[in-house]
Amino acid sequence: MSNVKRVAVTGAAGQIGYSLLPMIASGGIFGPNQKVALQLLEVTPVLGALEGVKMELEDCAFPLLTEVTCSDDPKAAFKDTDACLLVGSKPRGPGMERKDLLQDNGKIFIGQGQAIAEAAGPDVRVIVVGNPCNTNCLIAMHNASGVPQDRFTAMTRLDQSRAKAQLANKSGKHWSAVKNVTIWGNHSNTQYPDWHHATIDGVPAAQAVNDDAWLAGDFIATVQERGKAIINARGKSSAMSAAQAACDHAKSLFTVTKKDDWASLCVISDGSYGTPEGIISSFPCTTDGSGNWQIVQGLEMNDFSKQKAEITWQELVSEREMVQGLLAN
Ligand code: NAD
Ligand code: LMR
Repeated sequence: MSNVKRVAVTGAAGQIGYSLLPMIASGGIFGPNQKVALQLLEVTPVLGALEGVKMELEDCAFPLLTEVTCSDDPKAAFKDTDACLLVGSKPRGPGMERKDLLQDNGKIFIGQGQAIAEAAGPDVRVIVVGNPCNTNCLIAMHNASGVPQDRFTAMTRLDQSRAKAQLANKSGKHWSAVKNVTIWGNHSNTQYPDWHHATIDGVPAAQAVNDDAWLAGDFIATVQERGKAIINARGKSSAMSAAQAACDHAKSLFTVTKKDDWASLCVISDGSYGTPEGIISSFPCTTDGSGNWQIVQGLEMNDFSKQKAEITWQELVSEREMVQGLLAN
């Protein structure tokens, strides 16, 4: 058992927090041999409810959980952290798009980026879940002076898992048989879930599904609009699946992810595949298990894929323009 890993979770008394905290405390990110401490952040009026969450965490008596702290001060919550999961922010309601949240949520990530730079551990990794997560991540990254930009990632893991589930259901296979699905671009309804390199039980996905019109039509639309479908059905946005995805995303960073089933991570674009540089965009990535990722190179993108990817990249460019004033450096 190595030293305790310190994990900050913001918005910890919210819906996602309530599902995510027990997953982390059970070893969901760092595995069954690693002790963890949870450092929880909430806004001041919610600190009372957060104390209740802390009581419940203690009452679970998780063998791996060493400590739970609660605060409304980002610097206290991020102190010496190995991982910061930035969940705290408003969710959208019916009839809204995620980017409609930028006005309210964007500014949260200025102060949190600054606090990460001041207080987090020297090797911290940051995972942004709060929407619109790509551009919120960009804001945090730009305000975390001195923290390398590759430490910041945002989450399209839920979209990747949704795409796997759709492909599995359509082909009559289990979702664990589906590998190498890519989400390109933004965690929004312009995202491009790409099946061209995916396999199902080792067979190319297009062959296993045997319905090109479905792949190019309903498959893409279902994944793009799944968040909305859940809001319409539940009256609240996804939480259990979002928490699982956040945990899976973080676990992908801290365990080795190979090219035989890459992870879609939103990371700073270096221009790979023609993506505009400097935006936080989703790419197929491998990881080395120490928090470092690499964009998978050399995948062929046909004209259909290029066209779909361009739409979502341009949306990210326009979101960046909307928050230009919040980007410190
Ligand atoms: P929620 O309203 O249930 O909880 C959010 C919590 O954040 C609240 O308790 C609130 O008090 C807290 N909060 C707000 N501002 C804060 C701040 N500045 N510092 C700390 N805490 C703060 O919402 P939820 O359902 O848990 O969703 C949280 C966010 O995650 C939303 O923006 C939602 O859209 C997003 N989300 C993203 C994905 C994804 O795939 N990237 C999936 C699901 C949800
Ligand atoms: C999701 O994809 O479920 C989340 O981003 C929540 C939302 O607003 O759709």
